[in-house]
Amino acid sequence: MSDIGLFEAMYSARALRRLKPDPVPDEIIRKILDAAIRAPSAGNSQHWAFVGVRDSEMRRKLGLIYRKGSDIAKAIYHARGRPVHMTDEQYERMMSSGAYLWEHMGDAPVLMVPCLRDRPPPPREVLPPAVQAIYQQELVYTDQIRGASIYPAVQNIILACRAFGLGTLITTNHIRCEEEVKALLGIPDDVSTYALMPIGYPENKFGPVKRRPVNEVAYSDRWGTPWRG
Ligand SMILES: Cc1cc2nc3c(=O)[nH]c(=O)nc-3n(C[C@H](O)[C@H](O)[C@H](O)COP(=O)(O)O)c2cc1C
Repeated sequence: MSDIGLFEAMYSARALRRLKPDPVPDEIIRKILDAAIRAPSAGNSQHWAFVGVRDSEMRRKLGLIYRKGSDIAKAIYHARGRPVHMTDEQYERMMSSGAYLWEHMGDAPVLMVPCLRDRPPPPREVLPPAVQAIYQQELVYTDQIRGASIYPAVQNIILACRAFGLGTLITTNHIRCEEEVKALLGIPDDVSTYALMPIGYPENKFGPVKRRPVNEVAYSDRWGTPWRG
C-alpha cells in the first residue's frame, strides 16, 4: 500500500479507465473489500454484497453488456451536450476516455459489482396507524434513499484502490441492461446491482481531480446565499 494521506487520495483518485491486464493479487482485492464494508449503511443493515468477477469469459460477457448499456448512454450524452463548467477540450477528453471503456471493460483483470438486497419497509399492517396513514410516503422515501447504503462503500473502494496504486471508477451504464447482468452472475431477484467497477493497474497517472470551486456550489445558511468562510 502506498503511504498516502486521505486528502491526497481524495484529490488524486480520478476516474481511470485505461487499465493494464496484469492480475491484481487476491490479497489486495480482499483488503479493498474489507475497506468497502467499513462504509455506513441505513440502520447498519449491511445488506450489501460484492461480486468480484475475475474469470475471463465472465468478464468478456459483462463487458458486452456494458457496451450495450453504453450505446444508450451515448445517445443520452449527445442529446444533453457538454456541461457548462467544462471546456470543449475537457468534455472531449472525458467522452473519449468513456468510449475507450465501452470497448475494454472486459479487459480489466477484476470487475467489481457492488449490490444491495432490497430492504422494503415492514408490512403496512404491523405499523402504528399514524405510519400506516403515510405508508405511501414511506415507500417513496425508501426509493429515494435506495442507493445510499451502497455508494459510500463504492467510494471506499475507489479510495482503497488509490492507496494500492490501482485504477478504478464507478460506472452505472450496465444498469440499463441489469436483468442480463443478474442472469449472467446468478444474482437473486431481490438483489440489485449499483455499479460496475473495473479494477487494475492504471496506464495513466492519478489526479489531480478537477472540480467546480466550493464558492460556486456551496451556500451559507440558505439556498442562494454565497458560502462565507
Ligand atoms: C453515478 C455515476 C455514474 C457513472 N457512470 C459511468 C459510466 O457508466 N461510465 C463511465 O465511463 N463513467 C461513469 N461515471 C464516471 C464519471 O464520468 C466520472 O466520475 C466523472 O467524469 C469525474 O471524473 P474524474 O474524477 O476523473 O474527474 C459515473 C460516475 C457516477 C458518479
